[in-house]
Amino acid sequence: MFRTIADGVPGTEMSGHWLEEDEIWKILSFVRVLERSAAGSPVGCEAGPGDAARGKTLFSGKGGCAGCHTRVARLGPDLSVAGATHTRAYLRESIVNPNQEVAAQYRATRVRTKAGESLRGLLLNQDEYSVHLMDQRERIRSFARSELAEFAVLNESLMPSFGKALTPGETDDLVAYLCTLRTAPPATNVSSTGTPDLLRPDPRDWVTYSGNYASHRHSGLKQITPANTSRLQLKWMWQAKIAEKFETTPLVIDGTMYVTVPPSDVYALDASTGVKLWEYRRRIPPKSQVCCGQVNRGVAVLGDRLFLATVDAHAVALDRKTGRVLWDTEMIDYRAGYSATHAPLVVKAFQHSGIRSLEFT
Ligand code: HEC
Repeated sequence: MFRTIADGVPGTEMSGHWLEEDEIWKILSFVRVLERSAAGSPVGCEAGPGDAARGKTLFSGKGGCAGCHTRVARLGPDLSVAGATHTRAYLRESIVNPNQEVAAQYRATRVRTKAGESLRGLLLNQDEYSVHLMDQRERIRSFARSELAEFAVLNESLMPSFGKALTPGETDDLVAYLCTLRTAPPATNVSSTGTPDLLRPDPRDWVTYSGNYASHRHSGLKQITPANTSRLQLKWMWQAKIAEKFETTPLVIDGTMYVTVPPSDVYALDASTGVKLWEYRRRIPPKSQVCCGQVNRGVAVLGDRLFLATVDAHAVALDRKTGRVLWDTEMIDYRAGYSATHAPLVVKAFQHSGIRSLEFT
């Protein structure tokens, strides 16, 4: 079913979909819920034993579940609507016998370096030369394959089995608590400080393409100096799904980084972890022409809006917290050879965009 959604059905009108892998998995989970409800099986939790209040205390206390299972924790699936999507039996089984069925993205990965370090974590990415994983303290660790003595993706998860650690009564309490979780809490990973001050930006932010209106392109932060650059370390890595040229300057506002990816996509990343908060992907018509590569140089911000100029010569406003399109206006007809690849500039309440015409063909 995954392949059908991703690739479509050849020879029919069902084309493939340009969705993220995790989005396809979400659609599949939803289809499963629909199937279950169509078959008359209960969707979500039925009534049963256990004390939800005690379960809640266990979840964030002795059970240690919250460390892996909240909306912001990354080692396990978000359980904040577990009561609406899982049956009691499923929840109980998951706690007592977690390795029975482990989704691919949660398979534990084990590496041992030639220097003797061993660790387990979740595989983030790998290629010919390197392996990247998030260890059990949510630190991103990157290794060259040449420095590894062992690298294995295991058929088990990082979740310890609680069959012995918890009494049957405690398991009931936890299940009862999970069953109460039915509506998504508001997103907590996008904090809001309201309008970024474009004229006197917080030095931790980068609010325009050039950093400020004097276009100094120079950060006011003092933590990194010539004396300590040798100690800088990779904190996170995010891989775009395209090998086009990057000419973007990311904006950083209140801990979120807004980066554009060719041709005209925008990603919001948690600046401290690189975890994607949302994405805006635009299909560019095949006939749009750009002289020197379908690049993009970045977004502009005003209040809660981001502005983007697209390769097909549109100006687009996105909600800064969700990526939702607020408006999308054609600046000029791209079919006449026009395009836009620049970062817009906000002046007072207007956003300014230039247009370029095709001079090179
Ligand atoms: C070290 C991290 C970790 C801890 C601690 C942990 N879990 Fe998990 N949990 C996972 C991972 C990873 C998965 C997904 C893979 C799997 O099913 O084993 C998972 C799966 C689950 C699932 C199934 C979710 C689904 O959508 O299929 C439930 C329910 C669950 N855990 C409950 C708990 C409870 C309750 C606790 C505390 C008693 C707990 N977990 C502690 C990592 C953890």
